[in-house]
Amino acid sequence: MRLDKMLANMGYGTRKEVKKLLKTGVVRVDEEVTKDPKQHVDPEGNHVTVHEETVEYREFIYLMMNKPGGVISATEDEDETVIDLLIPEDQVFEPFPVGRLDKDTEGLLLITNDGKLAHHLTSPKHHVPKTYYARISGHVTEDDVQAFQKGVTLDDGYVTKPGELTILDANDHDQSEIELTIHEGKFHQVKRMFEAVDKKVTYLQRIQMGDLHLDQDLEPGEYRELTVEEVNLLQK
Ligand code: URA
Repeated sequence: MRLDKMLANMGYGTRKEVKKLLKTGVVRVDEEVTKDPKQHVDPEGNHVTVHEETVEYREFIYLMMNKPGGVISATEDEDETVIDLLIPEDQVFEPFPVGRLDKDTEGLLLITNDGKLAHHLTSPKHHVPKTYYARISGHVTEDDVQAFQKGVTLDDGYVTKPGELTILDANDHDQSEIELTIHEGKFHQVKRMFEAVDKKVTYLQRIQMGDLHLDQDLEPGEYRELTVEEVNLLQK
């Protein structure tokens, strides 16, 4: 990889700023001063220093965000995106959200620049389960649990794969609280599944993706890096 790209990726500024930094003679590759932004370096094999401090390179970043409502899960949009919520040091990795949550949906969103992992998690072939907590306007019953278990017909005629619906609280006849695990990711799927049984989702939060759970210590809008163990869980 080019030296200027490596340094830019590690937060030493834009490519232009890195070029200026190189000109000042403070960057060394294997002890030799270099001023050439085009110089090729092997981040694993070469020892790169700036102001005599070693540059620890890493290619991938894995972030868990508790997505807040009102923010778009995309990299660019007219409205605020989840990427806008990241600090610049994390944005330099050019990460993107894995899959989409609706603007009003909160909860677990993985943000990474690891395209292979993102593909693994979103490919319909792998059926990675996703679990949601929701508040529902209407009285959710055992009939709905059975209907979701069989698969329900969405407004466009698509019959969903079985989903596991758990009723958390349906004592109030106008409002229910549920958890739902689905194994696919059609557009607005959870909301449309409830519409198929004449009910309305009034609040939706993703709480789990594969074996990865939303960290309950993260407030909406907060994020943290995944641990090595969590990354390994996702790669299974
Ligand atoms: N299902 C929905 O309806 N919305 C989401 O954001 C995620 C799943």
